[in-house]
Amino acid sequence: MAKNPVVAVVGATGAVGREMLKTLEQRDFPASEVRAFASARSAGKRVPFKGQDLIVEELTEDSFKGIDLALFSAGGGTSKKFAPHAVKAGCVVVDNSSAWRMDDEVPLVVPEVNPEDLNWHKGIIANPNCSTIQMVVVLKPLHDVGKIKRVVVSTYQAVSGTGQKAIEELEKQVRQIFNMQEVEKKVYPYQIAFNCLPHIDVFLDNDYTKEEMKMVNETQKIMGDPNIKVTATAVRVPVFYGHSESVNIETEKKITAKEARAILSQAPGIKVLDNPKENIYPLAIFAAGEDDTFVGRIREDETIECGLNMWIVADNIRKGAALNAVQIAELLLIKDLVRVQS
Ligand code: A2P
Repeated sequence: MAKNPVVAVVGATGAVGREMLKTLEQRDFPASEVRAFASARSAGKRVPFKGQDLIVEELTEDSFKGIDLALFSAGGGTSKKFAPHAVKAGCVVVDNSSAWRMDDEVPLVVPEVNPEDLNWHKGIIANPNCSTIQMVVVLKPLHDVGKIKRVVVSTYQAVSGTGQKAIEELEKQVRQIFNMQEVEKKVYPYQIAFNCLPHIDVFLDNDYTKEEMKMVNETQKIMGDPNIKVTATAVRVPVFYGHSESVNIETEKKITAKEARAILSQAPGIKVLDNPKENIYPLAIFAAGEDDTFVGRIREDETIECGLNMWIVADNIRKGAALNAVQIAELLLIKDLVRVQS
């Protein structure tokens, strides 16, 4: 019988790291041991796991001795610096940052879409951007049937995607507004409470944001089709958990709304919630804490021959980050792609 791996969660004190621990626990991931790492600031802190506390350890270049599998969610800089040390120590890294996603040597994987790309990993597997994951889960089954030519997407993204500090900032600003106090802004350039910011990550030379271009480039890489044209507008909204997306697609072959509902109802990881007459459609408040990606408001785009509009919602911390990473880890074990050292 194969031995169970020693697993590290890097960034274990953060919003995604905590959810990674919770997901490992909930899915009863077959680890022989789980260890929690974060920066020196957090060394000695405790994080809950399986009814007990793990003591957080400071991440150093030597941390990976004896660790077989590491789930990273500690920002791009930490991943760039420490993932190569982990690989050198014989550890397989599933990285939630954007540091390695577009590296040709690194598979970018959503298990429902391109699990076969895990086969050529060289030690690092990248977890895609949260907005991309929930979109491609829905696009893939439609692409297989009708071949998608173009995608126009606008996102409505929760603050938890920015991290723990942003969750606290929204909470604090709401309280400050209700108490008629001045609003403090630390994380975002403008007030996020009761506002929408058409600005996620930095602006690039083409006037798109980095978040928007991630959706373009990552979609093409995951779907294995550089011909899919994607144009995105990414917006931060005052929601704690759950990203929503308005997605318009143009296909080569016509797919009716009814056919799309049937195709998506059969697809893995998706729940179709689409009954407008009964006010049934996906909502962030109901997607929070759930594993599925929800799709609804499916209707034909009446301005083109072969087009569909839909509304896609998922928990950005779960399917958009922690769950997708744990699903990758599970597949790595099933495919025997992790070398368990002791
Ligand atoms: P720490 O709490 O010690 O700062 P979030 O995205 O929710 O802000 O979480 C980021 C996570 O990444 C936290 O667990 C944070 O730890 C961790 N982190 C940030 N910088 C480093 C670093 N240089 N080494 C290890 N972990 C880091």
